[in-house]
Amino acid sequence: MTQIAEPPVTPLISESALADRVRVLGEQIQKDYANRELVIVSVLKGSFLFAADLVRAIDLPMRIEFFGVRSYGAATVSSGEVQITLDLTRPITGADVLVIEDIVDTGLTLTYILEQLRARGPRSVNVCALLHKPSRAVKPVSIDYLGFTIEDVFVVGYGLDYAERHRNLPYVGVLDQPPKKP
Ligand code: IMP
Repeated sequence: MTQIAEPPVTPLISESALADRVRVLGEQIQKDYANRELVIVSVLKGSFLFAADLVRAIDLPMRIEFFGVRSYGAATVSSGEVQITLDLTRPITGADVLVIEDIVDTGLTLTYILEQLRARGPRSVNVCALLHKPSRAVKPVSIDYLGFTIEDVFVVGYGLDYAERHRNLPYVGVLDQPPKKP
């Protein structure tokens, strides 16, 4: 098989550290939502692996929805203009919604998503994010369940991409040639 050269990635959060944290988050969520039924909203594409692991760590009745948004193109410029690329399949009126996001950077994407979901009349909306870069915050957003706080570095892997690459890495790593900042 031909190998295609990829820019180097330096491991930051190992596969086992991710698995340990996912287990703890799952336990917390299971406890907090005991006797309730969850609607999980996995934000695509970046949260697909995190969500897949997290839902298996939560032993509660749940429905799983996907919400596709595009905030960055290959240039990684966050304009705050978010495009919905895939909508939920069913209403969330009266539901306890848990949004699963890959990373909160400026907070613009999550702010937009929360506005969209809250307008649909759910009973509650909470957020579980794998990663947070607080140093980049533009819009303050509260994250109810957080995996890891990271420095201002551009990360890929475990669902996160740069120009659609690296999502399949089983760990989170720092892209050695980071894309330009907005
Ligand atoms: P925000 O609107 O600036 O908070 O950006 C959130 C979105 O930008 C995330 O859901 C990711 O898709 C993308 N993003 C932000 N930082 C990174 C990164 O370090 N690696 C990969 N994608 C990122």
